[in-house]
Amino acid sequence: MRKTFILALIAAFAPPAFSAGYDGKAIANEQDGRNWLAYGRTYSEQHASPLKQITSENVQRLGLAWSLDLPNVHNGLTVPLAVDGVIYFTVDQSKVHAVDAKSGKLLWRFDPEVWKVAGDKYRLSWGPRGIAYWKDKIYVGTLDGRLIALAAKTGKQIWSVQTVPKDDSSNITGAPRVFNGKVIIGHGGADFGQIRGYVTAYDAENGKQLWRWWAVPGDPAKGFENKSMEMAAKTWTGDTWKQGGGGTIWNAITFDPEFNRVYLGTGNGQPHGWRQRSPQGGDNLFLSSIVALEADTGEYVWHYQNDPGNDWDYNSTMDITTATLNIDGKPRKVLMQAPKNGFLYVIDRENGKLISGDKIDYVTWAERIDLVTGRPVENADVRAGRREVWPSATGAHTVMAWAFSPQTGYLYIPTIRSGNGARGAQMQRVDFPDRDSTRLQAWDPVAKKEVWSVKTPGFWNGGVAVTAGNLVFHGLGDGHLKAYDARTGKELWSFDAHFGIAGAPITYEVGGRQYVSIIAGWGGTGAAASGQMTAEYGWQSRVHVHRLLTFVLDGKTVLPPQAPPMIAKALEAPEFAVDPAKARIGAGVWNSSMCLGCHGFVMIAGGMAPDLRASPVPLSRDAFTEIVRNGALQQLGMPKYDKLTDAQLEGLQHYIRQRARETLSGAPTPPIPALPVLQR
Ligand code: HEC
Repeated sequence: MRKTFILALIAAFAPPAFSAGYDGKAIANEQDGRNWLAYGRTYSEQHASPLKQITSENVQRLGLAWSLDLPNVHNGLTVPLAVDGVIYFTVDQSKVHAVDAKSGKLLWRFDPEVWKVAGDKYRLSWGPRGIAYWKDKIYVGTLDGRLIALAAKTGKQIWSVQTVPKDDSSNITGAPRVFNGKVIIGHGGADFGQIRGYVTAYDAENGKQLWRWWAVPGDPAKGFENKSMEMAAKTWTGDTWKQGGGGTIWNAITFDPEFNRVYLGTGNGQPHGWRQRSPQGGDNLFLSSIVALEADTGEYVWHYQNDPGNDWDYNSTMDITTATLNIDGKPRKVLMQAPKNGFLYVIDRENGKLISGDKIDYVTWAERIDLVTGRPVENADVRAGRREVWPSATGAHTVMAWAFSPQTGYLYIPTIRSGNGARGAQMQRVDFPDRDSTRLQAWDPVAKKEVWSVKTPGFWNGGVAVTAGNLVFHGLGDGHLKAYDARTGKELWSFDAHFGIAGAPITYEVGGRQYVSIIAGWGGTGAAASGQMTAEYGWQSRVHVHRLLTFVLDGKTVLPPQAPPMIAKALEAPEFAVDPAKARIGAGVWNSSMCLGCHGFVMIAGGMAPDLRASPVPLSRDAFTEIVRNGALQQLGMPKYDKLTDAQLEGLQHYIRQRARETLSGAPTPPIPALPVLQR
């Protein structure tokens, strides 16, 4: 009796048993629901769990087990992992955390000190979305382009490699993936600089480079790296290789153990406009494509290009999910993707042939996808700039994790309905006339139709996960975590986290109990650049604390209080006399130095960074200089702009004050400027 009591005590307080390691066999195992071992849980990237302790019948009993505060975090757009009772996740500037899933106790924290080394890349500090696990290590890509392996048990760095050049805008926000003892990583940055995209595979044990595959052709005078580049070069005109070309692989990388391949989702072109990039036309391979590579060598196998002659900042970097679907009575090994462009593609992953391509939301750039040629049938008016382009550059589906349930056979897609003004390829202005039409929709990829959809709040919401308990969990911008019936979309459960949720949930099992965890906290571009769409929530990452929340059946913990929402109020400061000529200089700096990327396109902040119209700092030259030029808040996510001249700094102060006055006087919101190129 006594002995069992002591044993129970030890079990209750013992530190979690760190696993000696799961490898690819475990990551491929769809049936074992104990862990969430990879970004999409398993290699299929379905964000689906076979666990069914929590079900559509009992989810009303789901309650908070514990919460962990994450102070000084500005970005929570991330998907955690759970391995043998330890939750691992990265937030902010690639800071990795390990937390005991039973108690909520922080076990270790690793800070790669990105602010010290990122240089100008730090201006793109929107935060990481995920990490990877393999055997006894955790892998994280950092904003400045390092790939770092950590000991899962201690958080100690084991190795680190620089995967991109240090002096350009290339940066990592996506999760690495690990297969066959190799860890693979890409990067982003082609929206802001002259980047040529690639992925690199490293030895998971020691970080030794094994292979690299470029997504677009380089300098023809130097010869082609491989046959796929030779093939791609024939689809480009002009000398865009001088400008990088783009095609960065910054999010979707899916390993397929059945064919021993990786599928990559490639990004938009650089420059953005097709004609600026490739004056005599051409498809511009491998921009906005899904590309299959042989996993051990990185050799090209097949590709499918979603957007030939890529325009409008469309890309194919959204999640790629694999499954076996019963189509026309036959089991087909497929992959599925809903890229920005508003179509849902089902592709035979054996050979890359398109099976179906259907609109999942309002789309104007193309009428349909021709199933014989596999190419889109475009609306001619759109390239000519005579018609609005829907979806907008935000995409009908963006980086929020989606999910696929092998049980219902449905995809669960968080969608955003928005369009671009009729300015063709120039990316001049982004209009959001339908600002309230975000939805969570269940889509049947075999019947090729929507099964149900629920309206979600506002413009920016988190990602989803689906379980065999017939539940879809979805974190929302208004601060709620919801559970819907996966079959009908009926809302069954809701929890108010008192802070907008940008990340996606996971579920796993410890000691025979099923848990659900999510980061409650704001982040991503919707919380930063697109502040005019999200400021109404009143989330402020300096005021509201990011938290890791964990739920269990009959959890009774009460969430600690969170400050109420606070909508930024512009300061009057009548003593500051605005000089319009100086303000014009400031507006130029604002739009070209990425201030807009974090503090809001039109200086309405979404909450990830403070709203400067409401800040007293721009009233003081000294305080403003300390922060903007001398980097006083660098460690907290505010980059240092040490090359700004006195006149530029003063201009910024005047522009900030001018926008504050305009707001106070009720002036209309100015149009959104063109996307900047990262300037030094
Ligand atoms: C990568 C995102 C990012 C970019 C780009 C950025 N900022 Fe910031 N900024 C922040 C964050 C985050 C904070 C708040 C840091 C903290 O928690 O104290 C901040 C704080 C500030 C503050 C202090 C405000 C206050 O009330 O304390 C000023 C002023 C400021 N930024 C100005 C600028 C200007 C001007 C630019 C462009 C030249 C710029 N920022 C670019 C993220 C950014």
